[in-house]
Parts: sequence; structure tokens; C-alpha cells
Amino acid sequence: MTATRQQAEAAADQVPGSKLSARLYEPFLWLGEKTGFRRWRQKVVSGVSGSVLELGAGTGLNLAHYPAGLDRLVLVEPDFHKAGILATKPAPAGVEPEIVRAPGEMLPFEDDTFDTVVETLVLCTVADPEATAAEIRRVLKPDGRFLFMEHVRSEGPRLGPLQDRMEKTWMRIADGCHCNRRTVPMLEANGFEVEVTAEQDKFPMPPVARPIVSGIARPIAGSPPAPERGSAPDGDAAT
Ligand SMILES: C[S@@+](CC[C@H](N)C(=O)[O-])C[C@H]1O[C@@H](n2cnc3c(N)ncnc32)[C@H](O)[C@@H]1O
Repeated sequence: MTATRQQAEAAADQVPGSKLSARLYEPFLWLGEKTGFRRWRQKVVSGVSGSVLELGAGTGLNLAHYPAGLDRLVLVEPDFHKAGILATKPAPAGVEPEIVRAPGEMLPFEDDTFDTVVETLVLCTVADPEATAAEIRRVLKPDGRFLFMEHVRSEGPRLGPLQDRMEKTWMRIADGCHCNRRTVPMLEANGFEVEVTAEQDKFPMPPVARPIVSGIARPIAGSPPAPERGSAPDGDAAT
């Protein structure tokens, strides 16, 4: 069954977050934004079309990069404090974004709802990446696209093992972020065909949070076994 808005919001309340970390988020990323991330965001987000869901929209650093005239823009963010900051940001031209508090593992939308799902720096943080991938796939239309930008585990002989050792420490520094997730293979194992469009090792981020990859993932019909299909009770699901 698709979760109701109320169920998703109750689950969002369990996702770690605080007023302080929400306030420190943009200062923490300031240098990275100025020296590279902003350009990557622009490239990734400008590719969206139709009816769009952004997962883990945070404080809204992607908002300025949306093209005008989308059919719909839903900004999903579980953290109450970040969602509050998000609500203060200017909307893209020609669309009134809907802000929904939900975790990626429990999206309160019917199957096959969106043309595009987009996320930046979120699959590194979600509690259950596989469940989140399944939810993204479920809410995407069969010909929809999932656009992403993530830092991932290095395959380098030194950095990769260092990231494994640093995982717990980095999680404490960076608000629950895992520095050693193999996100592209995870998506491929969970029903997506993935095209990596950019990858960069040298980036103004601490080495544990490199490399950065961006790409387009498309659902593969019938693989893996589709999650249980269902509908939310009338009036509860966001449609
Ligand atoms: C590193 S921040 C990225 C924020 C924003 N996407 C950006 O690029 O600036 C990670 C975001 O993931 C959100 N998050 C954490 N757990 C989540 C979950 N289970 N489902 C969806 N989002 C989650 C956090 O609240 C936070 O906004």
C-alpha cells in the first residue's frame, strides 16, 4: 500500500535532524558551492521535465536551477527544520512547489506519478538506500528518469579502504552521511539502468567525500520484482 501523508510524516519525524544542523548546512557547504557544486546542481537540475519530485531537498540549494514551467514540483524533505528553511526560498518561475515531509523509504505518492525524480547528496544519507531506490522506481512513470548527483566510495586502493574506516566518524561530522556507499551499483541492483554522465575526483570536498558522480537512471521494466502496488486511501495520498 502507498503510505498516507500522515504515515510518511510520522516516519519523517524519526529521521535525525536538528535546528542547529539545519542552520549550519549552507555555511558548511559554502566553499564547495562556490567552487563547483553550484555548477553541478545547475547541470543536473536543469535536465528535469514534466512532473518532478526532488528527494531530500534540504534547505533548497537546487531551487534556483529549475527550468521554468514545470507541470508540478514536489519537494520531499523529512527534516522539519530544513523544510522550514526550504519554505522561505523563492520558487522557480511558473510553478508553486509543494513541500512534503517524508523519508525516501516511504513516499506518499501513487505508483507511476512522476516524469522525473531528482536528488543531490541524499542517497549517501538515507537510512535504507535499497528501499529508497525501490520507492523512487515505484513513483516514477515507466519511461521516467531519475537524475542524481552523489559522492560515492572510491575504488582507489587507498582512499576506498580509508573511507570504510572513516565511515562512522564522517557520519558524526556530516549529519549521518555515509562516505563509502557504492550508489551506482546499488541502483543497478535495484532495477535501474544507469548512465554516469560526469565523474570527478578532484573536488573542493574533503577526500573522504570523493569522487562525485552524476547520472541518469532509468527504470528497467519488471526488474527487480516490483514492490507491492497499491493505492492510498482517498484524500490521503498526494496526487
Ligand atoms: C547532505 S543533505 C543534501 C540536501 C540537498 N539535497 C542538497 O543537495 O543540498 C542530505 C539530505 O537528506 C535528507 N535525508 C536524510 N534522511 C533522509 C531520508 N531517509 N529520506 C529522504 N531524505 C533524507 C536530510 O534531511 C538532508 O536534507
